[in-house]
Amino acid sequence: MTSSTSATPPGEPVADEANRGERARQVLIRNDRGGYTVPSPGLYPFQWNWDSAVTALGWMTFDEPRAWRELDRLFEGQWDNGMVPHIIFHVQADTYFPGPAEWGAEGGNHSPTSSISQPPLAATMVRMMSERARDGALADREVTRLLPHLLAWHRWWFRDRDPDKTGLVVTFHPWESGLDNSPAWDAPLAAVPPTTRAYARRDTGFVDAARRPRQADYDRYVYLMDFFRQAKFDPARLYAECPYRVADFGLNAILLRATEDLAELCRRYGELGGAEEMSVAAGRSRQALDDLWSEKLGAYVSRDTRAGRLLEARTLSTFLAWYGRMAESTEVDRQLLTGLNEWTARTPHGLASTHPDAPEFDPQRYWRGPAWPHMNWLIARGLADAGHREEAAALHKATRSLIANGGFREYFNPMTGEGYGGGDFSWTAAVALFWCAAESSS
Ligand code: GLC
Repeated sequence: MTSSTSATPPGEPVADEANRGERARQVLIRNDRGGYTVPSPGLYPFQWNWDSAVTALGWMTFDEPRAWRELDRLFEGQWDNGMVPHIIFHVQADTYFPGPAEWGAEGGNHSPTSSISQPPLAATMVRMMSERARDGALADREVTRLLPHLLAWHRWWFRDRDPDKTGLVVTFHPWESGLDNSPAWDAPLAAVPPTTRAYARRDTGFVDAARRPRQADYDRYVYLMDFFRQAKFDPARLYAECPYRVADFGLNAILLRATEDLAELCRRYGELGGAEEMSVAAGRSRQALDDLWSEKLGAYVSRDTRAGRLLEARTLSTFLAWYGRMAESTEVDRQLLTGLNEWTARTPHGLASTHPDAPEFDPQRYWRGPAWPHMNWLIARGLADAGHREEAAALHKATRSLIANGGFREYFNPMTGEGYGGGDFSWTAAVALFWCAAESSS
């Protein structure tokens, strides 16, 4: 590496294209804590599940052994039942709430972790990494090593989160969706009692409180975490009694693609039983996902399976239908495309996470309006696969310019392009490397 290793100040533009790749590499290198990458120094000082999957693709552009190592370290947190937690606390740090003691999930054969999961991007990223690998022998070794872990994780989703075999897995906490503060979760979260115990948030010490979840939401996040610990993480009890139980469209679409990719990897690596099992599971989800279509919105939405109703919020999750290779009927494809074009026409800077006309839209508060580079990529990836090259190219262009003008920030105001949240953000830097560095969108 030849250029300076000094940190990019959080909002500093990285307009100089020639230098942007090097700056992005330096973000990953600075955020490396020994085989895993923290999402952002300060705000998120451990390993996060779906961040790591995206970040590994970024490492893949310049250090393949390090890219594979990211996933190895993620699976150090895997529970005996197959669950891969949303945070792996590889080290002690008291700057983050809720830390390992709060989750109460220490012990067992794994590193200290949280007790919930996150969108299962990993199998798809492993497939992409193996297809992009220049070191084929290393890729073969790593895929062979990772396959049993990926299978165990997917089996956990289908067994513990869909015990009735409906084809849709459920989340027990908004944080499992990855879209932590999305307005889609307002109604089911309102049914959760707020905690009455004292606790101290740490996030608002790093980021303006106006851009983070409200206190009333946090009181419920903490209630749910305490409930899991008190229920000793017993899956049957959680399924029967958790006051928050949501079939999240976005997570199920991500799981669908990942399960098909996992079936394909199993076929390529001679795991024929796993391939068959994953194909059957994917077939069941594909069918069930159709039930999440809202005629009223002309969009896919999530379902509150506790209250038995669709959550008709206008969030960007619906556009993950292409990523899940689901928009196969011409009519659904047409309606989604019309919706997307109308949505992006309203916001000059990428895809707003909540529709700008929705009453909950807030261009600054996280997941309630801001644009996220990795979401732009996932959606553009699906669009490109479905042959919608123009729309994919528009998201690509918008994301490039967000990063060029706002820096490697966590999320961006879709109206003004201003960057918010954590600075020096790993998955933003990774997206800059594996997607935005190229002229074309796919
Ligand atoms: C926030 C995001 C979540 C992400 C985490 C680390 O909690 O909502 O999706 O994984 O930050 O970046």
